[in-house]
Amino acid sequence: MAVLNINGKSVDAKVDPRTPLLWVLRDTLGMTGTKYGCGIAQCGACTVHIDGVPTRSCQVPMNSVGGRKITTIEGIADGDKLNKIQAAWVALDVPQCGYCQSGMIMAATALLAAKPNPTDADIDAAMTNICRCGTYKQIREAIHAAAKA
Ligand code: FES
Ligand code: FES
Repeated sequence: MAVLNINGKSVDAKVDPRTPLLWVLRDTLGMTGTKYGCGIAQCGACTVHIDGVPTRSCQVPMNSVGGRKITTIEGIADGDKLNKIQAAWVALDVPQCGYCQSGMIMAATALLAAKPNPTDADIDAAMTNICRCGTYKQIREAIHAAAKA
């Protein structure tokens, strides 16, 4: 059993300590906002923050994150109040199928925390997640809108 710090709460997870964090979140804890895409750290659908750093949770063993601060898509709003990135995503109607979007929002949230007014080049460098629906242009616009909010 390991104690994880997820979205500000201590959570017990009774699984093999080598289990990837993504499976602990989704299958053990029922936190399905974080998505499984490729499983090999390529697509970014599984992005969470670990100590504020966007991280692909499909390749992170649970026993490597004990005591570290994990934030998932379920933890970035303030109750019913969306954060400014989520609000920009809604206002600009960014998602198509939506599957990649929680990972995109986690990556964008970390980007704006590090660079509050990113350039297009900053966005291109930071947003390496894959969207099979091709929403990259809308994502860039929403990040700029959130930066101005
Ligand atoms: S599922 Fe983790 S990067 Fe694709
Ligand atoms: S919105 Fe469909 S994969 Fe990105």
